Amino acid sequence: MCGIVGYIGNTPAGDILLKGLRRLEYRGYDSAGVAVKDSDNIAIEKKKGRIDNLDLESIITGNVGIGHTRWATHGKPSDENSHPFFDCSESLAIVHNGIIDNFVALKDELEKAGHNFSSQTDSEVIAHLVEEYYQGDLMDAVTKTVSKLEGSYAIVVMHRDHDALIFSRNQSPLVIGIGTEENLVASDVPALLDHTNEVKYLQDGDIGRITTEDVKIWNDKGLEVERETKVIKWSVEDAEKGGYEHYMLKEIHEQPKAIHDSFLGRLVEFNEVDFSKYDIDLINIISCGTSYHAGLVGKYIIEEITGIQCMLDLASEYRYSSSTEKYPFTIFISQSGETADTIGAAKEAKRRGCKTLAITNVLDSSLTREVDEVIYTQAGPEIGVAATKTFTTQLIVLYLIAIQLGLRKGKILIEQAETYRNELRRLPRRVEVLLNDVDAIQDISERVLADAGDIFFVGRNINYPVALEGALKLKEIAYIHAAGYPAGELKHGPFALLTNKTPVIAICIKDHTFEKMLGNIGEIAARESPIICVCQEEMELEKLCDEIVVIPEISPLFSPVLINVVLQLFAYYTAYNLGRSIDKPRNLAKSVTVE
Ligand code: AGP
Repeated sequence: MCGIVGYIGNTPAGDILLKGLRRLEYRGYDSAGVAVKDSDNIAIEKKKGRIDNLDLESIITGNVGIGHTRWATHGKPSDENSHPFFDCSESLAIVHNGIIDNFVALKDELEKAGHNFSSQTDSEVIAHLVEEYYQGDLMDAVTKTVSKLEGSYAIVVMHRDHDALIFSRNQSPLVIGIGTEENLVASDVPALLDHTNEVKYLQDGDIGRITTEDVKIWNDKGLEVERETKVIKWSVEDAEKGGYEHYMLKEIHEQPKAIHDSFLGRLVEFNEVDFSKYDIDLINIISCGTSYHAGLVGKYIIEEITGIQCMLDLASEYRYSSSTEKYPFTIFISQSGETADTIGAAKEAKRRGCKTLAITNVLDSSLTREVDEVIYTQAGPEIGVAATKTFTTQLIVLYLIAIQLGLRKGKILIEQAETYRNELRRLPRRVEVLLNDVDAIQDISERVLADAGDIFFVGRNINYPVALEGALKLKEIAYIHAAGYPAGELKHGPFALLTNKTPVIAICIKDHTFEKMLGNIGEIAARESPIICVCQEEMELEKLCDEIVVIPEISPLFSPVLINVVLQLFAYYTAYNLGRSIDKPRNLAKSVTVE
């Protein structure tokens, strides 16, 4: 996820672009840049780091420009990999948000044709393709360029000989701002609101042009179209959160896309890691907090799909544990890639002779430099302190790894792998269905959870770690004491705490533990605790439970993804009812860089 903005009008573009980029910084912030054109030339100023690092003194005055704030996916954060990109002759400049899946092949062809590249990014191919096709008609060159691109993109292109910005989108957002004697284009509405509240949302395949006076759009069939003009009533702050009251809720709702982006291009050919290089008979997963819970779910996924034994360690404990004689293949999970405990554990695993792999959301983060292999979750930036979409995408990567290893080990055949892949393909839609109907969750949070002093979460098997994660989320943002347990463990002690004032959230899935879970629910009911059951269909559960939340149909192995979304929403709406500081809970930081 990156933020892009373009301006054309009667006012110097530099400051307008910077202001727009600041409004889009939530979309990425590892580097930034702007390109501005006067009558003869385009000048670019771009740097690694925050927008404030840009020095606009070096930018010529001009009323046309484009800007970019980056969330790195291909090529580490650096000055060279920042946008905008020039073509070879510095006649044109582009900004891009998205991922060009076929960029390696395109770059190869362009290099053979004599183009010189200055970065490791996928995006730079766009500048050189436009240059290759340009023969005086910029719109024609961009049209030919996008016909060559596979993947997702929102792009804006400027040329020193044209007083216009050309744009196009496919699976990445782009919106036009209609001003008075000025027009803008941006990834999101906040970048436009200082100038206008009249916008046009583009659709996939659209390609178009803004000049100072007008906006023209053609659809993917080449027909000129009129996209409806909408009037935005949000404040700038509302708009940055996409109309959601909190980043956390926005990020919960971004999960269908985050899941899709995380398996895109990886379902069949997962070639970021060549597992054939490693002899994997034992896996250890090491992480902290929510990432530890993802690892715990991963243990069930990996053992089921690959038959490989999988162990777990908390990073803060692993570092100081006695060394074992074995050298398991060790997976580190960290959304930030900056957690001191996890980085320390990675150093220790290396010292012990283990081969290591990191799963992280942040390109080139410190953890990635400590390990042999890296796989990125593609969740986009997560601003809320409580991890939501990053947890979900960590699970997606663990499913992908397990399918790959399962095939390699001969534990599953290609037909079984395809069944698993189909489950993954269906997940975004299933999460969407769940998110479209949250009334019951909202109501239970307000009526039952917000007043509780203690809340228990129970599950069995693969949903036991989901219970742990549900409890952690509630503690973090609602400040209510909560504990997650394997359902069979309550009778070994915690029963002493159950009263009619301690709600229990029970995860009940139709798997091989279902009958046992029914028994556990009966035991809890006997202690008169209010029971909230999260299940697949009502089954006989309504007789035993006080409240029921039904998730869409799904196989047990993939159910943690859906169940966890329900528990995220319980935490969110409970905290909301209590008026908590949801995006920045007290005493917590997004990444914990101290031991
Ligand atoms: C998650 O909601 C928490 N903020 C916290 O437990 C977090 O998961 C933990 O600090 C690990 O962070 P990481 O994934 O960035 O390593």
